[in-house]
Amino acid sequence: SGTLTILGLESSCDDTAAAVVRVHADGSAEVLSSVVLGQNDLHASFGGVVPEIAARAHAEQLDHAVEQALTQGDLAMTAVDAFAVTAGPGLIGGVVSGVMCAKGLAAGTGKPLYGVNHLAGHALTPRLTDQVPYPYLMLLVSGGHCQFLMVHSADRFERLGGTIDDAPGEAFDKIARLLGLPQPGGPSVEKAALTGDNSRFVFPRPLLDRQGCDLSFSGLKTAVLRTRDALITDNGGLSGTDQADIAAGFQAAVVDVLAQKSRRAFAAYPQEATRTFCVAGGVAANGAIRAALEGIAQEFSAGFVAPPLALCTDNAAMIAYAAAEQMAGRAPDGLTLSARPRWPL
Ligand code: KG4
Ligand code: ZN
Repeated sequence: SGTLTILGLESSCDDTAAAVVRVHADGSAEVLSSVVLGQNDLHASFGGVVPEIAARAHAEQLDHAVEQALTQGDLAMTAVDAFAVTAGPGLIGGVVSGVMCAKGLAAGTGKPLYGVNHLAGHALTPRLTDQVPYPYLMLLVSGGHCQFLMVHSADRFERLGGTIDDAPGEAFDKIARLLGLPQPGGPSVEKAALTGDNSRFVFPRPLLDRQGCDLSFSGLKTAVLRTRDALITDNGGLSGTDQADIAAGFQAAVVDVLAQKSRRAFAAYPQEATRTFCVAGGVAANGAIRAALEGIAQEFSAGFVAPPLALCTDNAAMIAYAAAEQMAGRAPDGLTLSARPRWPL
């Protein structure tokens, strides 16, 4: 009939997700349902994701996520034409849980199974939401990722550069912890920065002078730590103004680094290759960062696409959609599919 209905699973970090996506013959796609069961409560007291706890929670939650995705889409399992699952990269226990669940569904229904690279899922999302034509320039920027990609096709991704240490979201989370602001750090640091003076503390812009698109955020974090400690030593604590000014100075440094490296990425290609600049990942929710990146797109006469947050943070719709795009050019994986903790694009 020309339409394809795919059920996707995602469990490579701390979200257990299932979704159903329908792709039409003309290439347009609909997200029929998308369920994301977070694990924040389970990991909160540990100050980070604990792999063993994540894996166990995924194993417990995947069946519920699948059930909810079918219910939310008002679908029976018989409506599903194929299954897609994140087969890496990620925390291996969670990826294994997802792959096992997907194999069970494929074996039980006799429908094909496709293993999908998690990063390919993020990178193809602008096509799911906005039918962005190939090729396009992409910045993936979240708590776990930070890289520039030139997306040539559903299975050809050129990595221009990425972080050599922390991801920006991770840095936002750490700065929030240093300042005593709530987690996740991104939104609380952004909020504090709104009232801060971003010129009181000028933090380093790591790697800005180095050629290429590699980024680094760990030196920035260390500089913030030193500034905070000096203020505490001198004044016996941090005032609200100190907090806001540090947050503003930190955010300004991140904005500068991302903007400058985005310019480098554009400069590496002729204009035909960069008609669209896409961003995805939780950090793309940041107003200042988003505005700066949109400005760079304008500088280079490119369109700017930032998919809705629910589809540019971890989700399973992107996995189902990536499988749909890749299907024409590859065979299904079948029941021998294995989980890959490392899987560069
Ligand atoms: O994409 P995401 O939900 O999960 C992965 O990391 O894969 O991204 C979460 C990250 C967290 O580190 C969070 O602090 C950051 O995105 N984040 C933000 C903002 N909202 C979320 N960072 C900066 N500004 C924000 N408004
Ligand atoms: Zn992700």
